[in-house]
Amino acid sequence: MATTIAAPVQEPPLTNIKHTTTQESSTAETSTSTTFIPPPLPAPFSHTTAPIQLIAHGAEALLYKTIFLTPDQPCILKHRPAKSWRHPKLDVRLTRHRILTEARILVRCRRECVPVPAVLALDADAGWLCSEFIESSHGVQGRGLTVREGLERWRKNNSSLTTSDDLLGSVRDLLRRIGEVVARLHASGVIHGDLTSSNLMLRSMVRPNASAEVSSSEDVSLSGEVVLIDFGLASMSIQDEDRAVDLYVLERAMGSTHPWLEEEFGLMLDGYKGSYKGANVTLKRLEEVRMRGRKKSMIG
Ligand SMILES: Nc1ncnc2c1ncn2[C@@H]1O[C@H](COP(=O)(O)OP(=O)(O)OP(=O)(O)O)[C@@H](O)[C@H]1O
Ligand SMILES: [Mg+2]
Repeated sequence: MATTIAAPVQEPPLTNIKHTTTQESSTAETSTSTTFIPPPLPAPFSHTTAPIQLIAHGAEALLYKTIFLTPDQPCILKHRPAKSWRHPKLDVRLTRHRILTEARILVRCRRECVPVPAVLALDADAGWLCSEFIESSHGVQGRGLTVREGLERWRKNNSSLTTSDDLLGSVRDLLRRIGEVVARLHASGVIHGDLTSSNLMLRSMVRPNASAEVSSSEDVSLSGEVVLIDFGLASMSIQDEDRAVDLYVLERAMGSTHPWLEEEFGLMLDGYKGSYKGANVTLKRLEEVRMRGRKKSMIG
């Protein structure tokens, strides 16, 4: 069977990336050259000349890559700066809660051998968490590779092709691996709470060599280990309802980010199905959750 891959929609602009060498110059530029001035770094990162690079900033957090902790191990600093629009006491409580939740759940996942970054350091009151940097030889500008970016780059590279089952093989294999990893997460009693293709990363099997040629933005491989990140909204539960809703969120997020893959999503559930005892009950519940979702969107 042959599947046609339609021309890709415009990729979203890469998030505000400009390599910076010290925290004094830690401004980042968007691809449209708007200058973004991040809030000051928390201590002790504000008192060092170790290179630090802003790699992403969302509504709540700024993500930096740095070698602050050890020169040969890059790490990710997730900083949740104070939000001026929130009551200061509530803001401190919420930030602290998010950081601690994320750290506790990452530690639990590591113990259960679920692939997540290792926690290296944190200061919940100051709003930061340092974790292992997930490397990919296909990351661009020193960043790692999210599943979102990997899939959209793969699609761009293959946009003019009528792909055979063979060509789509790596995409299908990735979808199955995503299902397996989410099943392992659920089997360990954790609900992610925000499963999207931006919160899944691909770790290269080969550690990229600093002297090797830098990966181009065209070049991409979907192989490698799927690693779950961003546990700020995670919780502990073994309820089928919670697991099913987690899967539903993933299905909806994948559908809106990668609509060209919609027909293949069943493969994620195939990967999920075989991975732990009780997965079938969760998948049955998923059908109910989908039905409720459809009714809700019909009513408005
Ligand atoms: N451990 C990591 N290794 C490599 N890159 C990472 C890592 N953690 C995050 N990133 C990069 O930073 C981006 C944003 O990270 P993350 O999803 O944790 O933040 P966020 O969505 O802004 O957080 P939140 O939703 O909790 O406010 C990711 O999509 C990824 O590109
Ligand atoms: Mg995220």
